[in-house]
Amino acid sequence: MAHRGRRTSPPEGERPRFRPPAADDLRHPEANPYLDAHREWSPEVVPADVAHTFHGRWEAAFGRSAPLHVEIGSGNGFFLAGTCAAHPEWNVLGVEIRYKRAVLCARKLRAAGLTNGRIARYDAFYLDDLFTDGAAAALYVNHPDPWPRERHAKNRLISRWFLEEAARILQSGAPLRLKSDYLPNIERLTFHLDHDDDGEPAPRLPFDVTGRADDVTTGPAPWPDDIETNYQSKFRKRGLPVYAVALART
Ligand SMILES: C[S@@+](CC[C@H](N)C(=O)[O-])C[C@H]1O[C@@H](n2cnc3c(N)ncnc32)[C@H](O)[C@@H]1O
Repeated sequence: MAHRGRRTSPPEGERPRFRPPAADDLRHPEANPYLDAHREWSPEVVPADVAHTFHGRWEAAFGRSAPLHVEIGSGNGFFLAGTCAAHPEWNVLGVEIRYKRAVLCARKLRAAGLTNGRIARYDAFYLDDLFTDGAAAALYVNHPDPWPRERHAKNRLISRWFLEEAARILQSGAPLRLKSDYLPNIERLTFHLDHDDDGEPAPRLPFDVTGRADDVTTGPAPWPDDIETNYQSKFRKRGLPVYAVALART
């Protein structure tokens, strides 16, 4: 059974699998100015053509060896920078597909003088390009795009293939934490522990569910010292709930 969410070309086993068009191919009169600008934010921004070269050696991107904490879809970088500030003993890597947002993340890190954060401009559907087995001490996903329509299901990050990748990448005992304003995403994370992307029963993946919260904007998160993200603050200000679920790699 093909994985509905995992992007299938080029073939598995060939790396890097994420092959963005060359910058020159993207140029037109209204070209995204961040296409060039994101390269000027080294070392905080790690462009796609460099990021995969750190497969198995992310300590080289940080200039030091430390536990690697990974956030998927860092957006404007509030969580990334907040986590770096709260944990100078960690190397914190964001993975963000949009050029501008990668730059915004880098700006936040640099403005705060944080040297333990990096943002890879990369497609999170190709985590196998970036991480060896057991590379990460934690994975965080905050407000992933919901893609509610069934015909867009292949775009959803929260899926069986993502959990399989998380199980491969995370060290034993490491947390996988998800916050979302979109309840189906929270439910999918636990559903796909023992169901495939077509909803059929599948072998149980090696995670325990360690906590859940129905609203982290008004109550505690299922982990200590929650760091608010940009989207999270928007939902809090509108009086809307943000759900959370925590897993641990067994
Ligand atoms: C709804 S926003 C949430 C941003 C941030 N995490 C927050 O909570 O404020 C989703 C983010 O995921 C990024 N994203 C979407 N698909 C992605 C992919 N395939 N790989 C990496 N980042 C992705 C988007 O560009 C966007 O910044």
